[in-house]
Amino acid sequence: MFRKNPIIKINKFLDEKSLKKIKKILPKLKFKTVYQERKKHFSHVFKFNDSKWPSKKEKWSARFGVAINDEKKRKFVDEIFYNHIVKEIKKRSKNKIKYFLYPNIYKIKAGDFFRCHYDQFAGTVGYTLFFSTDWKWDYGGILHFLDKNLKPEAFFPEDNILLIRNEKKPLLHYVTQVPKYVESSHYLILGWAKSKPGKKSKFRGEYLKL
Ligand SMILES: [Fe+2]
Repeated sequence: MFRKNPIIKINKFLDEKSLKKIKKILPKLKFKTVYQERKKHFSHVFKFNDSKWPSKKEKWSARFGVAINDEKKRKFVDEIFYNHIVKEIKKRSKNKIKYFLYPNIYKIKAGDFFRCHYDQFAGTVGYTLFFSTDWKWDYGGILHFLDKNLKPEAFFPEDNILLIRNEKKPLLHYVTQVPKYVESSHYLILGWAKSKPGKKSKFRGEYLKL
């Protein structure tokens, strides 16, 4: 499924009709702001030896909005999840990837960010579908992955782009903070998948066999 590059980028992932529909729904959902701070994560969970990676003494933190699960949300996200994302990953993995986490919907607005981390314990394949309207480079919220030479590569939150990530090896990444002057927000549908059943998580939920 993955060749040399651990990230597959698919432009214009959803058809126009589905895109229009989900983009109408997203701003109507209820989001709660989550602020996470983990004092020792850089010394074990997100430990990485490089002078440009945060030191063990620093606190890891992140701030983002996450959709509160309700019926309205499920209906429209279900369609995109089962009919588009799951289908695509199964097809590309020749049906090897069968276990999926039901995705979370994130809203990224002024003040939001994710400090350096990696998500490898969540699943072996990660996916992110971006939704944005008139986002600009200096609005921040830009996802960066460090490549094998530890150089950051920026992934602009372009509308309707799907990223599929190989997370068998830790994929180092961070999201820059959105400055105060930004009045708009963008959205992500984010989840993980595996070839074998994965662990249940309080935040991410349970793996579904599909
Ligand atoms: Fe992450």
